Amino acid sequence: MGSATDLSTNHSHNDSMPVVQTWNLGKVYRTGFWMNQKIESLKNCSLSIYPGETFGLLGPNGAGKTTLLKTLLGITRPTTGRAVIFGKPIGDRTVKQKIGYLPENAYLYDFLTAWEFLEFVAGLFQIPQSQQHQRITELLDLVGLAQSTARKKKLKQYSKGMLQRVGMAQALINDPEIVFLDEPMSGLDPMGRYRMREIVLSLKQQGKTIFFNSHVLSDIEQICDRIAFLALGELICQGSLDDLLGTNDAYQAIVAGVAPETLAPWMSNLTEENNRWHGQLKVEPNRFVTHLDDVEARLVSIHLARPSLEEFFMQQLRERGIEVSR
Ligand SMILES: Nc1ncnc2c1ncn2[C@@H]1O[C@H](COP(=O)(O)OP(=O)(O)O)[C@@H](O)[C@H]1O
Ligand SMILES: [Mg+2]
Repeated sequence: MGSATDLSTNHSHNDSMPVVQTWNLGKVYRTGFWMNQKIESLKNCSLSIYPGETFGLLGPNGAGKTTLLKTLLGITRPTTGRAVIFGKPIGDRTVKQKIGYLPENAYLYDFLTAWEFLEFVAGLFQIPQSQQHQRITELLDLVGLAQSTARKKKLKQYSKGMLQRVGMAQALINDPEIVFLDEPMSGLDPMGRYRMREIVLSLKQQGKTIFFNSHVLSDIEQICDRIAFLALGELICQGSLDDLLGTNDAYQAIVAGVAPETLAPWMSNLTEENNRWHGQLKVEPNRFVTHLDDVEARLVSIHLARPSLEEFFMQQLRERGIEVSR
């Protein structure tokens, strides 16, 4: 308990009700012939996702991301804890209507065309036949698939990137309010990743709430408003990039040839190393450099204090003694 540090203090969603909220969700899988082996895939996960937010769940393979997502979708049952979506318990029928889901390695039907497949899915959601044509046309347009291709080509002839886009169209068929995407970029080439990113961004513009699983930092860094990091089933931190990494305007500098008293008005947290002073700027970088000139100090370096997301997470893992093989 209490292992997840929620660093998000200043998001503006505080007054709106979360779309997804979980309290201490836990999942233990039992495996083996006698079901006597336990795998604790999820431990005490508490999180909230707000309307219109793109929420990235990040973590190495095996961290429990898919387990958490499947639990929220009602595909697996939590062993402990509780979750609500749109204020209703998991599995509630009216809630299912508002959810879209793109599974990891989506299984599609090889011998159907994309069009036939989407008609099939539309049928499952009881979308009237009269509306199906327009809905499918809109979705193909959104995910960037030509209607002629979708009508002619069988799914087994599609590239991984195209299949992923058909999967995306499938997830959106019921015009969901929240979309769960499990590793939507995995296995895609740079062009495929770019297109997926564009699709996610257009969904975001439409005001959809997006829950996005990935083990790739850069995917998340570029599109997500808020991030949670999962390792060995535990949420080890969550917040916006600014919450986690610090704002983008903090600078670190190294200066030589000057006494710390002289630097004190413009720098904080001063530490010495090899006759050089390291510290954080208290003033604008331009003004700082001018001051240094005035006192004839030498600037060794100046850089943004904010670490990359990767540095940050590696640090978080190290602090917790978690080994990650990549
Ligand atoms: N159906 C299952 N039965 C037993 N163990 C499972 C099952 N699904 C996942 N696991 C285990 O739970 C852990 C988390 O898996 P998963 O949620 O798939 O992680 P991720 O999606 O982050 O890669 C792994 O150790 C995995 O082997
Ligand atoms: Mg997974």
